[in-house]
Amino acid sequence: MSEVRTLVIDGKDVAATSDQTVLSAAEENGIHIPTLCHLEGLSDVGACRLCVVEVEGSPKLLAACATRVEEGMKVTTSSERLVAYRRNIVELFFVERNHICAVCVANNHCQLQDQARDLQLTHFELPPLHPELTVDATHERFVLDQNRCILCTRCVRVCDEIEGAHTWDIQGRGANARLVCDLGTPWGSSTTCTSCGKCVQVCPTGALFEKGRTVAEAKSRRPYLPYLVKAKRQGS
Ligand code: SF4
Ligand code: FES
Repeated sequence: MSEVRTLVIDGKDVAATSDQTVLSAAEENGIHIPTLCHLEGLSDVGACRLCVVEVEGSPKLLAACATRVEEGMKVTTSSERLVAYRRNIVELFFVERNHICAVCVANNHCQLQDQARDLQLTHFELPPLHPELTVDATHERFVLDQNRCILCTRCVRVCDEIEGAHTWDIQGRGANARLVCDLGTPWGSSTTCTSCGKCVQVCPTGALFEKGRTVAEAKSRRPYLPYLVKAKRQGS
C-alpha cells in the first residue's frame, strides 16, 4: 500500500505517494523536467538520462523517471550543471547517428530536435560518427530508419506492454546496439507484428514512420497517446 511522502522540489514543498517517481511528483506540481524515453502509460527504463536531477546527499545525478520519492528528499531539477549534462546527452544522440533534420520526415515534429532547441544547443563539439545504417522499408505501411533511432525503447515497450506482440527488441551493446524486429527479421516478414502502428506513434524522432503520410498528419494523430495511460490503468 502506498504511503504519503513529503519532499522539496526546487524549493517547493511537495506531497506525493511512496509509489510515485520524482518525475511524476514534479509534473503534478507544475515543475517541468525534460524527458525523452519516458512516456506516460509505459514502464520507465531510465534509458536516455535526460531527466537527471540533483538530490541533496547523493554524489550521483539521478534519473527522475526511475527514482522513487523518499521522505525529506531535497531535489533540484535545474542548475548549470544539469543543463550542461543534458546538452551533452542531446549532443551525443545527434552525433552517434545521422540526424540531418533538413531531410528528416520528422523535421519540426521531433522531440530530439525540441530538446536541442530548448537547451539552446546551436553546434556540436564532438565529431559526428556518421555510421552507415540501414533503412527497413519492407513493411507494407511503415518504415524503420536506424539512422534516426535514439534507442529510447518506447517502441519496444508499447509493443510489449500495450499491444502484447513483443515484435521489437534491442540487440547488441553500446555503439553496436540496434532496434531489431523478431530478433533480426525484416519488418515485412515479421510473424508477430500486428501492424497496429503503436510503435510508430510513440517514436520521438523520425526513426519509425508511416509510408505516404505527411508529418503534419502523423502529428495530428498523436492525441491518441493518452489511450496508453487508460490501457495501462485498466490492465493494472
Ligand atoms: Fe525509440 Fe523510435 Fe528508436 Fe523505437 S525506433 S527505440 S521509439 S527512437
Ligand atoms: Fe528519464 Fe529518459 S526520461 S531516463
